[in-house]
Amino acid sequence: MTFRLARLTLVSVLLGSALTVVPSRVATAAALPYQDPSLPVATRVNDLLSRMTLDDKAGQMTQADRAAINPVSDVLTYRLGSILSGGGSAPTPNNATSWADMYDNFQRQALGTPLAIPMIYGIDAVHGHNNVVGATIFPHNIGLGATRDADLVQRIGQATAEEVAGTGIDWTFAPCLCVARDDRWGRTYESYGEEPALVSPMTSIITGLQGNGILATAKHYVGDGGTTGGDDQGNTQISEAELRAIHLPPFQAAVQRGVGSVMVSYSSWNGSKLHGHRYLLTDVLKGELGFTGFIVSDWAGIDQIEGGVGFTASEVTTAINAGIDMVMVPTDYRRFITLLKQEVTAGRIPMSRIDDANRRILTKKFEYGLFDRPLTDRSLTGTVGNAAHRTLGREAVRKSQVLLKNQGNVLPLAKTGGKIFVAGKSADNIGNQSGGWTISWQGSSGNTTPGTTILQGIRDAVGSGTQVTYNQTGTGIDSTFRAAIAVVGETPYAEGNGDRTGAMGLDSTDLTTLQRLQASGVPVIVVLVSGRPMDIAAQIANWRALVAAWLPGTEGRGVADVLFGDYAPTGKLPMTWMNSASQQPINAGDGKTPLFPQGYGLTYGGPSPSPSPSPSPSPSPSPSPSPSPSPSPSPSPSPSPSPSPSPTTGCTVAYRPNSWNTGFTAEVTITNRSTTTITGWTLGWTFSGNQQISNAWNATVTQSGQQVTARNVDHNRTLNANGGTAAFGFQASYSGTNANPATFTLNGTTCTTA
Ligand code: GLC
Repeated sequence: MTFRLARLTLVSVLLGSALTVVPSRVATAAALPYQDPSLPVATRVNDLLSRMTLDDKAGQMTQADRAAINPVSDVLTYRLGSILSGGGSAPTPNNATSWADMYDNFQRQALGTPLAIPMIYGIDAVHGHNNVVGATIFPHNIGLGATRDADLVQRIGQATAEEVAGTGIDWTFAPCLCVARDDRWGRTYESYGEEPALVSPMTSIITGLQGNGILATAKHYVGDGGTTGGDDQGNTQISEAELRAIHLPPFQAAVQRGVGSVMVSYSSWNGSKLHGHRYLLTDVLKGELGFTGFIVSDWAGIDQIEGGVGFTASEVTTAINAGIDMVMVPTDYRRFITLLKQEVTAGRIPMSRIDDANRRILTKKFEYGLFDRPLTDRSLTGTVGNAAHRTLGREAVRKSQVLLKNQGNVLPLAKTGGKIFVAGKSADNIGNQSGGWTISWQGSSGNTTPGTTILQGIRDAVGSGTQVTYNQTGTGIDSTFRAAIAVVGETPYAEGNGDRTGAMGLDSTDLTTLQRLQASGVPVIVVLVSGRPMDIAAQIANWRALVAAWLPGTEGRGVADVLFGDYAPTGKLPMTWMNSASQQPINAGDGKTPLFPQGYGLTYGGPSPSPSPSPSPSPSPSPSPSPSPSPSPSPSPSPSPSPSPSPTTGCTVAYRPNSWNTGFTAEVTITNRSTTTITGWTLGWTFSGNQQISNAWNATVTQSGQQVTARNVDHNRTLNANGGTAAFGFQASYSGTNANPATFTLNGTTCTTA
């Protein structure tokens, strides 16, 4: 069911609209065959085409950015067939209603042309309706690729279609079907994966979009993700066999799904610009693949054919004759139309090519109801950012999380008990967690649109018995916390601005934050918010756990769902994860040894065989290794050899459990009541029931049956005389009762319990 059924009819719109402009040649509804919705689309197209002048036809092939159209009546004057919003090109105020008002105002101008041909409005709704403040921002494609869930992606297409239609807009420049082969490319996050087998199934989003009234765009045709060095708009230097094997299949899948438009890539293939490539655009895409929709250029893409500034008559001719049907000019639309008509009149562009282009464009306008219901369906405007879509967004976030390390099964974290520290520049930052193409073209850090940050998601997830402390830099962390969650990674970027030609590691801000957390000895769980794999092999040894969160969008609760076990992670890497940036490009099957292979992803409950990355030795202090509650002491790295413990004449142990029905955490504080400083300690106790420790912090804890031994770690080894303390904690499971241990011994001496 398309969502245009509720759209007003052409005549009632013209007669009833505030800006009534009744075109000279359209007297009444269905006065002419092309205006009769009961006739087949092909009949309507043929009738309309027969009535069109070169002015009409040239206008249909011209797309201008909304911000460049001045005065607005240029839509009428130049008979513009299409308008777009480039990234961030938005009305003021930026809300759903003002978008719909803007759309309708432009449309009324178009309906005032002699044949009242409606314009079609395109926008980059690439992870939700991301230019609109308040819209649901879904995970970028790299995260959706990690879900391997084509049905989910189709549902995201439907939800996006509702929000796009609710603002009047007809067409999204999505999905990007790029197969990103080099993670240095700034658009890696727009790719569903490094292989066509990962990308092609995700064309399901086309079904979700077009099945709900929004024209989709397969982009950028072809080979945009295969440029040498990941150079955006660069040169894809591969054989035709490789181009067909790696980069073409997703477009074949899209054509098979009936995608209505294809956008041309800026890139070149072996030195030839795609925007002028007749073989690939016409012979392969339209001929061999049978694509019957229309081809649109990229933003000022034809300007690059000859490489100079702006576009020339010959570039116009080359592009149109190569097979481009609509040109995203997007600003100098007057000059484009003049040159196009000139080239046709001169016979350098055959009228048959012009008619073919118009036929393709008009067919989609008829199919998508623009002639019959040209204005916004206001019944959909309220879907923008609605609860149902945000719930879907949260589902997508959950399913996109990839658990890469989980030493000692530190995750999932207990929801109740103790204190959790949250740090990192992207913990409380909607802009960072949404990435590029969000409200503005490049995206930006900060509170850019309504949503739930990862930090808020953590706060919402834990019980009232848990204290969550947030400090962006990690200042204030100490050993009394049971876990530290560091949300770090990349700040927003888009296109070439995201290209990496050098290092691909964490920035100094993140590294400083992580060092601060690690120094406390508290287990550090890293949540990486990034548009691509990052070079983290040198740091990962210091992290207890690592979750690749990608660019989750507005629904940050989905990350907490995984961290606290409401959803066991199912995400799998859509890209091979480098061991070093020097390995780029690195892809499955290329013989290079990655840190994590494509397809890797842990879940909960199983063993925690975090692959031992082969990083260079890390400078930072080793973390407190977690215990493995195995019958025999785990081969965990032994704590620093403690000198023979000095005798104690008195110690006190405070044991503070926080229990829930199947488990508990406990904070244990040892106080040295003696007059002698203790430099190295071992605390022992016996559980009374079937308590089973799963992880610990600030101590190395081993368990044999009911006997438990906790040994100090380096930074927590000193118990000063006369009241010095040391604290550690652990998480455990139990069933039945959970009585506190009756006796604790410190270095063999029995303590009193506080
Ligand atoms: C951009 C991008 C393309 C986008 C278009 C319109 O430069 O390459 O993906 O759809 O312009 O914003």
